[in-house]
Amino acid sequence: MTAICEYKPGLENIPAAQSSVSYVDGQKGILEYRGINIEELADKSTFLETTYLLIWGALPTKEELQAFEHEIRYHRRIKYRIRDMMKCFPETGHPMDALQASAAALGLFYSRRALPDPSYIRQAVVRLVAKIPTMVAAFQLMRKGNDPIQPRDDLDYSANFLYMLNEREPDPLAARIFDICLTLHAEHTMNASTFSARVTASTLTDPYAVVASAVGTLAGPLHGGANEEVIEMLEKIGSVENVRPYIENCIEHKSKIMGFGHRVYKVKDPRAPILQKLAEQLFEKFGYDKYYDIALEVERVVEEKLGHKGIYPNVDFYSGLVYRKMGIPTDLFTPIFAIARVAGWLAHWKEQLGENRIFRPTQIYTGDRGMPYVPIEER
Ligand code: SDX
Repeated sequence: MTAICEYKPGLENIPAAQSSVSYVDGQKGILEYRGINIEELADKSTFLETTYLLIWGALPTKEELQAFEHEIRYHRRIKYRIRDMMKCFPETGHPMDALQASAAALGLFYSRRALPDPSYIRQAVVRLVAKIPTMVAAFQLMRKGNDPIQPRDDLDYSANFLYMLNEREPDPLAARIFDICLTLHAEHTMNASTFSARVTASTLTDPYAVVASAVGTLAGPLHGGANEEVIEMLEKIGSVENVRPYIENCIEHKSKIMGFGHRVYKVKDPRAPILQKLAEQLFEKFGYDKYYDIALEVERVVEEKLGHKGIYPNVDFYSGLVYRKMGIPTDLFTPIFAIARVAGWLAHWKEQLGENRIFRPTQIYTGDRGMPYVPIEER
């Protein structure tokens, strides 16, 4: 079979689906979820309300939101068998791997086959949105040698996650800022993990497998894993004076500067300035972070050197500074990205089920043909 269009590495600019979940204008730096601008959602919405919007396509009424929040609270606990399984994970393992395995393990308890029926979809959405944060927090406590703690029904989604992580109630400003971070990371058109989710969804496997495959894809340093590497880079740079030689060295050796560049945005990612402001609010209340000065200088130098190529900060550049100020360990940054992105993955899963056809692209074969089989003793 011959390909009907030119091969584009990374499928650049090739539409993989028709979608009404979100919209990005990479030249103007615009991001909208279901047509609503991200700045407005960050300012006025909550993560659970935004999740409802993404999955069901419209903002919920007061009653709809209350019912959704209530269901999520009710399903936050995880089965003791999942906790016991997680206890066997090595404490040196990366939390993204723990999350991928735990998300897949949820599928052991629920249906193996996805049904395009509203009550099946609702149940799967509620379970995944409710339980993923509990699993991230449980692994964090267990790897420190502690028992995980139960979710608290009197705390909202983000405050409860921070409580389960730190074993104490969070500061209300920190909890609100964390919730905004989740809203900012909830969805982003056909990124690699969402594509992975849709490919997995198209086989009609269960939504736990869909989320597990997407978590595995998000983990890589070219995608969600970059937020962890940004902090490692800032630590390595160490001071504002070291920024310029560090960046020049990266450019000379063609190594990627973490938290910069984007397939779609050729200007600063619209989520980055919001995250920057959130970091500043935290610094004002809880004290300054010298890595912010280094980050600002990195942005200045990269813009000077690579701005002409459209390389600017992406969502991963400033998020780590926010989480760091909240005392969250660096290797939990990407699992937190996953907690948020579950909303987008599930919105795409639902959309895919609505008009499904299995993904089966073609390839351009570059190997030999008609080769003889050479017996082993003659090779
Ligand atoms: C996310 O897709 C999404 O929407 C993802 C995301 C989401 O919300 O889901 O926004 C989240 O994944 C953000 C991206 C996080 N990754 C990083 O921060 C890692 C560093 N960035 C890159 O490796 C890169 O910019 C990508 C992976 C984000 C985009 O890769 P592309 O589109 O394949 O671009 P490319 O690697 O082919 O680069 C094009 C040019 C090259 O220069 P030339 O060879 O043409 O001269 O730009 C240069 C690259 O060298 N370049 C960079 C760079 N990013 C691109 N040079 C230095 N540092 C960088 N970070």
